[in-house]
Amino acid sequence: MAANSENTGSETFRLFQSTDEGKNAPNFGGLGFFDSLETPLPPPPPCEEILPSEVSISVKYAVEQVDLGDVTLLKGRVSTREVFALSNSDLVPGKYEGGLKLWEGSLDLVKALHSEIQKGDLSFEGKKVLELGCGHGLPGIFACLKGAGSVHFQDFNAEVLKCLTLPNVNANLPSGTSVSDNCKIRYFAGDWGEVDCILPHARTDSKDAASSNDNATPGYDLILMAETVYSITTLPNLYSLIKKCVSRPHGIIYLAAKKHYFGVGGGSRRFLSIVEKDGILTTSLIAEVVDGSSNVREVWKLSCK
Ligand SMILES: C[S@@+](CC[C@H](N)C(=O)[O-])C[C@H]1O[C@@H](n2cnc3c(N)ncnc32)[C@H](O)[C@@H]1O
Repeated sequence: MAANSENTGSETFRLFQSTDEGKNAPNFGGLGFFDSLETPLPPPPPCEEILPSEVSISVKYAVEQVDLGDVTLLKGRVSTREVFALSNSDLVPGKYEGGLKLWEGSLDLVKALHSEIQKGDLSFEGKKVLELGCGHGLPGIFACLKGAGSVHFQDFNAEVLKCLTLPNVNANLPSGTSVSDNCKIRYFAGDWGEVDCILPHARTDSKDAASSNDNATPGYDLILMAETVYSITTLPNLYSLIKKCVSRPHGIIYLAAKKHYFGVGGGSRRFLSIVEKDGILTTSLIAEVVDGSSNVREVWKLSCK
C-alpha cells in the first residue's frame, strides 16, 4: 500500500492527506492518492429505495453553511466513526465509498451549474434530475432550488442517504415550502453495476417489459455527478449506468472530477476516454480549477450526439 494510508484493520484508503472530520470547514487539501485493491471486494450492499421517513435520528448531525459566492447552501457534518465505525477514513472500497465527506468537486459542480444557468445554457425547470454518488447531495439540492420537477439521489451506502443526504435535503428545503412541494425527491442506495433496476427512469429490459416507469418518457433530463470517477474498476459500470439513465436525445450529464486520481488510476480523462471510444456522447470542458495544487479539477458537460 502506498504512503499516507491508514490501516484500521480493514482495507482503508485515503484520497486526500486529511479529511474534514472534526474541522469547521471542508478540507480540500492536498494530494496523496492510494492505490489498488489487492483483496477481493465484498458483495455490494443490496439495492433499495430509502424513504424520507427513514432519516436517521440517532446519528449526530451538525449543520454548517457552505458559501459558494452567489449561492449559499447548508451541509451537515456526521462522524464516519459513528456511522461506519471507521476512524477518519476517506473510503473503504466495497464497504464505504466516501459519501460522508464533502468533496471539492461537488462545490465546483454547483458553481458550474450556477454559471450555466446565468449564461442561459441550462434550466432545471420541471426537469427530471439524477445525482449519482451524491454523498451530501449539494448539486441535487441546488437543482431542487432551481425548479427541478424531480430529483433522485443515489449513493452506494444506504447509511449515507439516511444520516447525511436526507438531513441535508431537509435543512435546505424545509417541508411546506414551495420548493419542497414542487420537487419530487427520492433516494436510492446501491452499486452502479445494478442500481438501474430500482431507478424509476432508467431503461432496463425488465422494467420496459413490465411498463413500470412512473413517467412515460424514459431517462433523466439531467445527470449530475461529482468525484465519482476515481476508481478505475468502477468506470465501465458507471458509464453503462449513465447510458441506461440519460434521456435521449436531449439528456445532459454534468461531471466534476479531478483530471487524475494518482495511484487509483481513475480521473476525468480516463472516464472520458471510455465515453469517447463509445462514440454516442459529445464532451465539452466547461470549467477548470487550477488552484496551485498539482491536481487540476474539471467540470465536463456530456450531451447525446
Ligand atoms: C468521493 S465520494 C463523492 C461524494 C460527493 N459526490 C461529493 O463530491 O462530495 C464518491 C461517491 O460515489 C459513490 N460511489 C462510489 N462507488 C460507487 C459504486 N460502485 N456504486 C455506487 N456508488 C458509488 C459513493 O457512495 C460516494 O457517494
